[in-house]
Amino acid sequence: MGRTAAFDAIAPTYDATRGGTARAAAFAEQLAALLDPAEPVLDIGVGTGIVAAELTARGHRVCGIDLSPGMLAHARARLGARVAAGDAGRLPVRTGSVAQAVSTWLLHAGPNPRAVFGEVARVLRPGGRYLVIPARGMRPGDDIGRVVGELEDRLDPEAARQDGPQVLAPIAAAHGLVYEGTASERPTVFRVSPEQMARSLAGGRLFTGAWQVGEEHLGLVAEACERLRALPDPQVPRVREMADFVMVFRRTE
Ligand SMILES: C[S@@+](CC[C@H](N)C(=O)[O-])C[C@H]1O[C@@H](n2cnc3c(N)ncnc32)[C@H](O)[C@@H]1O
Repeated sequence: MGRTAAFDAIAPTYDATRGGTARAAAFAEQLAALLDPAEPVLDIGVGTGIVAAELTARGHRVCGIDLSPGMLAHARARLGARVAAGDAGRLPVRTGSVAQAVSTWLLHAGPNPRAVFGEVARVLRPGGRYLVIPARGMRPGDDIGRVVGELEDRLDPEAARQDGPQVLAPIAAAHGLVYEGTASERPTVFRVSPEQMARSLAGGRLFTGAWQVGEEHLGLVAEACERLRALPDPQVPRVREMADFVMVFRRTE
């Protein structure tokens, strides 16, 4: 499968199946609280442009880059010529020219985080900031979360799909970006039953269309589904408490 095929395939339904405008507006609020409205914003992994459009609606000048032509077609409809095709690991942007960059739900989705942080460190000017909203910043500690977390660890022993502070802060530091901590926390609560989670895993896609489980690992997924269905009251939704937050990285020199 090509590097963009998974996102090209889900592009038409991406917004509707990922929280739509409500998620994008919430992310934009969290980011806007930390952005300087006087400076342009580079959105790396802009996707369909749904978050960038919400930032634009809040008065920010946003340019976006993404690798997937399918996702970019939607972003162009929203943002016009302010989006371009490009690889987050090889940004088509001048060195030291960016005051602030953002990524929402990018670093779990395939790119090599070392390459991305290397490029972000290159394009940011001294003092510039990179704001990241992770997809898996926090793992729920309930019974569903424990099963799913173990499955993730078995499928991804190198933690290449993890995008929380423990994984990203050392990578950023190696490229001269200081991790300043989290900001703009937004608690979220949702309900899902073990049975619903098992059904969603059984599709062979883990949480993001881009993480498609290979044939050789379907046994691990089936095992996790069995464990979910063996939990007490598998039809009863659990109230799952999580939080979306922004990780702040700064280029110091
Ligand atoms: C889960 S989506 C998030 C999109 C958007 N930021 C949002 O929050 O809706 C991840 C996006 O990252 C893009 N992507 C993945 N790897 C990339 C790379 N190496 N360079 C640029 N974009 C990439 C995908 O094409 C996809 O649009």
